Amino acid sequence: MLQIVYISTARKPFSEAELRSVLAVSRRNNEAAGITGLLISGGRRFLQALEGPDEAVAAAFDRIKADARHFAVVALSMKHVETREFGNWAMGFEAGGADGPDDLRGVVEALIAPLQDKSLRAQFIGFAEINARAA
Ligand SMILES: Cc1cc2nc3c(=O)[nH]c(=O)nc-3n(C[C@H](O)[C@H](O)[C@H](O)COP(=O)(O)O)c2cc1C
Repeated sequence: MLQIVYISTARKPFSEAELRSVLAVSRRNNEAAGITGLLISGGRRFLQALEGPDEAVAAAFDRIKADARHFAVVALSMKHVETREFGNWAMGFEAGGADGPDDLRGVVEALIAPLQDKSLRAQFIGFAEINARAA
């Protein structure tokens, strides 16, 4: 299985409705393709993990990179894994920023507590710390 973690920046801030729509499409497509993952939005920044069959993940990442609603899509890690870290989620989600929880770090920490991969946990916690209050 391929696992990709990337960051990106929204061209303009996503409304709650836009975020909901991205999530609905993601969950539908990912479920059909056997992809699981987690998306955290903090202000205009996104951090997303995708994992599943190599070709399905590569195809999803190509589509995501071509999405004009965000830019500066940078893969932080791309590796083969034996077992899923995000198996419970077709696409888990948490948003920080104005409408998010006061404690994005705490919320993300709780979400990712079951993850086995320490560096993966560190990536998500670092992102939550930096982007919790960013607009
Ligand atoms: C931050 C972000 C994360 C996304 N994550 C996914 C995803 O996990 N899976 C997916 O299929 N599309 C995702 N998308 C949407 C894709 O860019 C694209 O719009 C969508 O896959 C097209 O699907 P459709 O052809 O079924 O309309 C994401 C978009 C953004 C901006």
